[in-house]
Amino acid sequence: MTDGTYEVVVVGSCMTDLVSQAPRLPKAGETIHGHGFFIGFGGKGANQCVQAARLGTKTAMVCKVGKDFFGDNYIQNFKNNGISTEFVRQTEQAATGAATIIVNDEGENAIVIVAGANLLLGEEELQWVEPALGGAKVLVCQLEIEPDVTLLALRMARDRGVKTIFNPAPAIAGLHADFYRTSDIFCCNESEAELLTGVVVRSVEDAARAGEEFLQRGCGSVIVTLGPQGCVVLTAQDPTPRHIPAKPVTPLDTTGAGDSFIGALAFYTAQYPTMPLEEMARRANQVAAISVQAAGTQASYPSRGGLPPHLF
Ligand code: RIB
Repeated sequence: MTDGTYEVVVVGSCMTDLVSQAPRLPKAGETIHGHGFFIGFGGKGANQCVQAARLGTKTAMVCKVGKDFFGDNYIQNFKNNGISTEFVRQTEQAATGAATIIVNDEGENAIVIVAGANLLLGEEELQWVEPALGGAKVLVCQLEIEPDVTLLALRMARDRGVKTIFNPAPAIAGLHADFYRTSDIFCCNESEAELLTGVVVRSVEDAARAGEEFLQRGCGSVIVTLGPQGCVVLTAQDPTPRHIPAKPVTPLDTTGAGDSFIGALAFYTAQYPTMPLEEMARRANQVAAISVQAAGTQASYPSRGGLPPHLF
């Protein structure tokens, strides 16, 4: 993009994903044999940005990577996906973020992130992003950068009338109240909902209860994702929880499926602003379901050309 206008702006993280495939997740102190290894592009922020871009939105990523091999590669990855790198900065003070991921034969994962350069994205750097943020339709944020920076981005978007999608992942206890008040769409998974509300989320009814709590805290609308069970949607205008089921698929690798869902949600919010949130969630479920049937995070994300026309 050269004209400086973007539909979706993501302020968030980039990670290099180091992925081992193994029959099961190891226990503490245990070594097990895996059967596959690959390196991929990840990080919740970048994943969401890439999915939105692949569906056809003009996107910009605001992030920081290291001045190293992984950082250089990541910038090229954004370019390859048609994402603006106008607001991507490199630092010599820390390495590009990295995620160690183990995926078992059921497609489940365990992840450790070392955020590195992501934590050096500062509040002052959001100031030069301001023009792009003001002209955007949607801002998307998560919690893999400094929470204060995320909150500032959300406040800046709200003050400029830009719709916000906030994904509180990885969740942190005692989230500042303004995270809820500045979220037009607050979207989290079962474990994040549980950590933030204390409600153990296993069923649709549990997700509905957690969602009601988030609405009370000031969110404009809420989506609690439930993996193969789909998601639950609530809005301040219509607080009746609606269950949006997902079509059953056989998962190979669920890593980053939530990011695919949120990237798709950002795309629909930007390009179909009058579409009911339930319908956006129904379509985003279908996009994310495709991503779990292939290995990797961004490597598994579908592009518009490979998707059925009824999603557009
Ligand atoms: O949500 C999946 C992502 O979480 C991975 O790509 C990994 O980098 C971590 O950030």
